[in-house]
Amino acid sequence: MKIDILTLFPEIFPGPLGESIVGRAMKNELLEIRAFDLRNYTDDARGTVDDKPYGPGPGMLMKPEPLTRAVEDLATPDTFVVMTSPRGVVFNQHLARELSKREHLLIVCGHYEGVDERALSTLIDLEVSIGDYVLTSGNLAAMVMCDAVSRLLPGVLGADQSSEDESFTEGLLEYPQYTRPPEFRAMKVPEILSSGDHAKIAAWRRGKAEQLTRERRPDLWEKYCAQRSQESK
Ligand code: ADE
Repeated sequence: MKIDILTLFPEIFPGPLGESIVGRAMKNELLEIRAFDLRNYTDDARGTVDDKPYGPGPGMLMKPEPLTRAVEDLATPDTFVVMTSPRGVVFNQHLARELSKREHLLIVCGHYEGVDERALSTLIDLEVSIGDYVLTSGNLAAMVMCDAVSRLLPGVLGADQSSEDESFTEGLLEYPQYTRPPEFRAMKVPEILSSGDHAKIAAWRRGKAEQLTRERRPDLWEKYCAQRSQESK
């Protein structure tokens, strides 16, 4: 898979993505991440990428021309073009999985107060937010998306780090886990986990995952319950 990032700060990439699991995936050529400077697509000496909005209101907007030139240069008909934006659809594990099936992603990092709507509507397939808060730019959002998508690509996680059985895959948060020692500061590992009874362990884990989800994420819990009642009809 190829992920291209269009940004005003190409030098911050790959940054943390160059380390650990994603860094290794890049070294092993399972994944290529490249960053492109939006200013290279401007046509004035100052490299102007923003301008004032029509109508009253504060802030600056990304101009349509450099963005259009850049996306037309970097995208092919198979490219899926994402723009980071606090007004986008909220990124989640399902969307990460969908994006991981694409051959080529182009992530445009939003800057300033927004983007000229004509560029948005003609160039961008999907606006994506990483959560209901406002960042100073889309660069960290692009990194978050790259990270979540990369680890879902075939071969990126080892067999011992499967992405099948983790938070969100079934709409539940992950159950509690324990490692050695068997007793730590007078707290014992639940006995059932050493019982060797796989069916009982699975039922215990599901019970814990359901309890955590109910307590922490009523929104996910409601969806999970609705899905289950649908399935039992
Ligand atoms: N840019 C500013 N805030 C953002 C957010 N929450 N998600 C994606 N891009 C953003």
